Amino acid sequence: MDKVEIKEGIYWVGGIDWNIRDFHGYSTLKGTTYNAFLVIDERVTLFDTVKKGFREDLLRRISAVIDPKKIDYVVVNHVEMDHSGSLPEIMEICRPSKLFCSSRGKQALLQHFHRPEWPYEVVATGSEIKLGRRTVRFLETRMLHWPDSMFSYIPEERLLISSDAFGQHWATSERFDDEVEQSELMEHAAKYYANILLLYSPLVQNLLATVREMGLEIDMVAPDHGLIWRKDPGRILEAYAAWSGQRPARKALVIYDTMWESTAAMARAVADGLMKQKVSVQVMDLRYTHRSDVMTQLLDASALVCGSSTLNNGMLPKMADALHYMRGLKPMRKMGAAFGSFGWSGEGVRMVEEALQAMKVEIVAPAIKVQYVPDTEALLGCVEMGSRVGELIRQRT
Ligand code: FEO
Repeated sequence: MDKVEIKEGIYWVGGIDWNIRDFHGYSTLKGTTYNAFLVIDERVTLFDTVKKGFREDLLRRISAVIDPKKIDYVVVNHVEMDHSGSLPEIMEICRPSKLFCSSRGKQALLQHFHRPEWPYEVVATGSEIKLGRRTVRFLETRMLHWPDSMFSYIPEERLLISSDAFGQHWATSERFDDEVEQSELMEHAAKYYANILLLYSPLVQNLLATVREMGLEIDMVAPDHGLIWRKDPGRILEAYAAWSGQRPARKALVIYDTMWESTAAMARAVADGLMKQKVSVQVMDLRYTHRSDVMTQLLDASALVCGSSTLNNGMLPKMADALHYMRGLKPMRKMGAAFGSFGWSGEGVRMVEEALQAMKVEIVAPAIKVQYVPDTEALLGCVEMGSRVGELIRQRT
């Protein structure tokens, strides 16, 4: 097997999961990777492991470089099981003298694997260890993505091993950012941010400020998922600054679910009104669009306009799913409105509006409800709603 040397004496030894399609509710239509890194120094050190089931891949890749038994240290940057699932077997095989993790990491490892005898060494922001020629400096990154998370920075290599941050769920044969199509790379990175990290945006802003204050010189960012940033690591840092700032673009998102196409016709009319105002619009039918793709489009949208028919005294289930998922990810600075058709009771639209308000979306147009099938006048009302929202977007962007 060809070794994947990312810097002299530092190897990617991860696993490629070509088949995963659901990552706790996020559609990973092109799979993912579980990246792990091996540093050959006086103390041979493994940074993170891989999901259970990929242990053989990890060991095969390590063995292509060095006997796994020669690993001295294991660093657990993050306990979630896509990175620690194979840790018990690796600890058994490699028997490292030290296992470095944050204090919350130790607690979480004990609660996952119940192995108090492991040689834990708790580190915190600012802690340093010497591997020989190289140093590892730790930076705790609580809630990015779990309370235990941390970065490992190797100053001699200008290498930031960034755990979940800056990753993408994308299984590829390539390992580096400059080897893949650039717009697809950024789409995967944006989808990852929108679905994994958006709710922690204030923490991302603080972290980026800390990285600046610490004056870390970085010429490679190696996340635990997807491609390694070596060509222009500043690009992903800048993208995170923009995404975490949640600066809205001149863009609106219209999402809907429909029973007999009335709400669909209303959605197209709302979109026409937005387009009249020269606002970029994405229209997404939730019957065919996954909630996590909605989130990606919402990331830089100014407005979220939602339509649902009424079913059994409520909104349609796919709208409830999308709104519930969105609320958890805490999008900020959005305006919105609700619309939809109904047969007799008509609670769906009000419930959609209440759900938008619950996630602090500013309601900027009165809700529109149409009984059964919209006529021309009703559709013109929807165009007017879109135009009103579009006008506000233009004023604010
Ligand atoms: Fe890739 Fe939070 O685990």
